[in-house]
Amino acid sequence: MHRTHTAGELRSSDVGKKVTLSGWVQTTRDFGGMTFIDLRDRYGITQLSFNEELNNALNEKARKLGREYVIKVGGEVIERSNKNPNIPTGDIEIRVEHLEVLNESKLPPFTIEDETDGGEEIRLKYRYLDLRRSPIQQKVILRHRLNKAIRNYLDENGFTEVETPYLIKSTPEGARDFVVPSRLNENEYYALPQSPQTFKQLLMVGGLDKYYQVVKCFRDEDFRADRQPEFTQIDCEMSFVERDDVLSTFEGMIRAAFKDSKNIELGEIPKLTYAEAIRRFGSDKPDMRFAMELVDMDVVCKGKGFGVFDQADKVLSICVKGGSSYTRKELDALTDWVKRPQIGAKGLIYCRINEDGSYKSSVDKFFDQDALAAWADATKAESGDIILVLSGDESKVYKQMNELRLHVADQRGLRSGGDFKAVWVVDFPLLERDEESGQWHAMHHPFTSPKPEDLQLMESDPAAVRANAYDLAINGMEVGGGSIRIHDRELQQKMFKLLGFSRDEAQKQFGFLMDAFEYGAPPHGGIAFGLDRLAAILAGTDSIRDVIAFPKNNMGRDIMIDAPSELNEEQKKELGL
Ligand code: AMO
Repeated sequence: MHRTHTAGELRSSDVGKKVTLSGWVQTTRDFGGMTFIDLRDRYGITQLSFNEELNNALNEKARKLGREYVIKVGGEVIERSNKNPNIPTGDIEIRVEHLEVLNESKLPPFTIEDETDGGEEIRLKYRYLDLRRSPIQQKVILRHRLNKAIRNYLDENGFTEVETPYLIKSTPEGARDFVVPSRLNENEYYALPQSPQTFKQLLMVGGLDKYYQVVKCFRDEDFRADRQPEFTQIDCEMSFVERDDVLSTFEGMIRAAFKDSKNIELGEIPKLTYAEAIRRFGSDKPDMRFAMELVDMDVVCKGKGFGVFDQADKVLSICVKGGSSYTRKELDALTDWVKRPQIGAKGLIYCRINEDGSYKSSVDKFFDQDALAAWADATKAESGDIILVLSGDESKVYKQMNELRLHVADQRGLRSGGDFKAVWVVDFPLLERDEESGQWHAMHHPFTSPKPEDLQLMESDPAAVRANAYDLAINGMEVGGGSIRIHDRELQQKMFKLLGFSRDEAQKQFGFLMDAFEYGAPPHGGIAFGLDRLAAILAGTDSIRDVIAFPKNNMGRDIMIDAPSELNEEQKKELGL
């Protein structure tokens, strides 16, 4: 038998028991006559003790064990003289009577402890060693619990998990496809699914009624901390539903997931329209953990002879509570920050509200105390606060203000602390226009239904048409998105036409779906959540790589197995490449 107990479970109530444990050698402390070893497994760490006086040969053997050796020990649980209150097994140790080396180990390239000395690249190359570290294991286990809570909820609510194919043709979700050459069909290629979108709709036509799938999706897009080229969706679809049916079902799912996996009460999730989210936060995935909302300053800032404001499309501000204590240097740094190309603002204007109620702004030449009082009024700023103002093109300044709001909140610690705030964003625009080509694109995807009341605008004013689409954002991260779908051939065809597809192209690419709509497609809608992102939020990490057992690096490479890699000539020939 390899073990009677794990390395995480023995307590003082077990003193006197004869036990067998197996695991890895984390550290060896050699005091000559006495040797102490920390034995580690997934469940914890247990101290082993060896005493020269009791068994010299055994103590000598223990002294020679290297880090990460796999060993099996037998012995008696005894009370520790030097207790360690920091670990659950800290009251006891095993006085070892038998020691067997199950496997030796080379010296690992980084320390396998909670705080490691290994950089990310080396840890990814030896991910199997990184996975031995408790913080990584805990995240992988948390992800499992989250996944299980979600599956339980969906199963209890009548959803059937159905697997859809990976070798398909393009499903447009706005990224590039990964393609797979077909040996049997020379010069033809499969695309890996960016999502199972069309299949889940066909399952609704097939009468499955409520579908879900925990499914890998593949998107060839540029790297970001919240993106991986392959990632996992909780993909869902329901028939005979309207928007609020979908939202309440999945609000229940998210609440159950937070409760069951981490005992967090998420509470009711508010709804914001897209227009309101942009107006108040400059973002369609606002972080609702703090206020600092955007304030439209056009009325109080324009027409006072200050050219920058007068020529701007839009003047916006935020009021930073307690911000008048910003030093000159800090304000200069903030100004440099907004002027970086990634943000692209021309400059930053501010107004302090001093403790005595007077105002000090960076544009005192143009705005007297009365004019600045109007700023304070508009932003509800009080003594001790500072108002930060940006101006420019409407299309840019909301985004810039969103970035500034998040940056300031980061600096002031408003975005940490284990707090979770979710928000539904609804009524997205159906379409967005590519600035260069002038071509319309679907903001969500081409299968999203317009809101019925906006249907009549589809030809006359496409930009004004709202989609029956919704996103869920938690703590400023988009974790899910979906929509009520088009289930009518004619409307779907009209949509493809708006998106610049010819009738032939649309038929060639999506004829199978439109054909299906002619055989009694039920009204349907759904949503997909990013499992990696949900797990990252629950684990309190910014990067989804931390919650993926074997992630890709920022060049989309798996540096452990060295993929992607070249094909040999024979394989290429066989594939007609
Ligand atoms: P969407 O494209 O919004 O919708 O994707 C749904 C959710 O998947 C997650 N996600 C990602 N996570 C990690 N890496 C990526 N590269 C990545 N891309 C997306 C996000 C996102 O909210 N078929 C539709 C859903 C529907 O309409 O039902 C879809 O895929 O959390």
